[in-house]
Amino acid sequence: MRKYIIANWKMHYGPIKAGAWIRAFRRERLPKDLDIGVAIPHISFAAARSSLGRASVPWLGAQNVCWAEEGAYTGETSPGMLQELGSTFCIVGHSERRLLLGETDEMISKKVAALVHQKIQPIICIGETEVQRKKGEASKIVRAQLTSALSGLKSAQGVDIVIAYEPVWAIGSGKPCEPNDARQMHEVARDVLKKKFGKDGETMRVIYGGSVDVRTVHEYVSTTAIDGVLVGGASLDPRAFGLVCRAASPA
Ligand code: 13P
Repeated sequence: MRKYIIANWKMHYGPIKAGAWIRAFRRERLPKDLDIGVAIPHISFAAARSSLGRASVPWLGAQNVCWAEEGAYTGETSPGMLQELGSTFCIVGHSERRLLLGETDEMISKKVAALVHQKIQPIICIGETEVQRKKGEASKIVRAQLTSALSGLKSAQGVDIVIAYEPVWAIGSGKPCEPNDARQMHEVARDVLKKKFGKDGETMRVIYGGSVDVRTVHEYVSTTAIDGVLVGGASLDPRAFGLVCRAASPA
């Protein structure tokens, strides 16, 4: 399975800086055996696409979506609109949205179903807080969040759903989860996927996010149960993100 290396800029880079990032990143020497994407603010798609020109790397994706296709949802962006923007994937249920912006399990499951219906690949974020981990509840939380996020789907409808295990305590903290601990949570996620989707669930990617950088990326992607990484802070500089991509695939 080709490993995913996905940048999440979060709320950084409007059109001007996004265009400059893409132009600089296009100068990076990138491994051919990885799938590389960048999740950008909606407002920056047009600039990023025009800076990308005919280049097919990186893929562009969104960081959020509304579950409805149209209507009275002031300020929201629908899956169909994401498609028009050229978004090949969309992050859903990031812990920052859950914790800071009031996103609930129910909203997340509706968003996942809407994206799958529109054939946009969801990258569904799940992960426990530090308190939950200390209480020994990490597996329970991961299982419950993922089961709920998938509850609006009967099948994957041909969409290659991606799960991102992002323990909340590892995000932006400089304290990444040990690959072995991450592996255990990935196995929990894999079990949920297989029970839900049967054979299709065996090949969906389960990636890791939380303080991944140039020093740690290879340890994750060389672990069989970890199908890639979601990179926040270390993706903000295009050269640094190029280094992360090369470190992921030192060959
Ligand atoms: P950091 O890499 O900055 O810890 O962020 C991880 C993340 O939240 C990616 O979605």
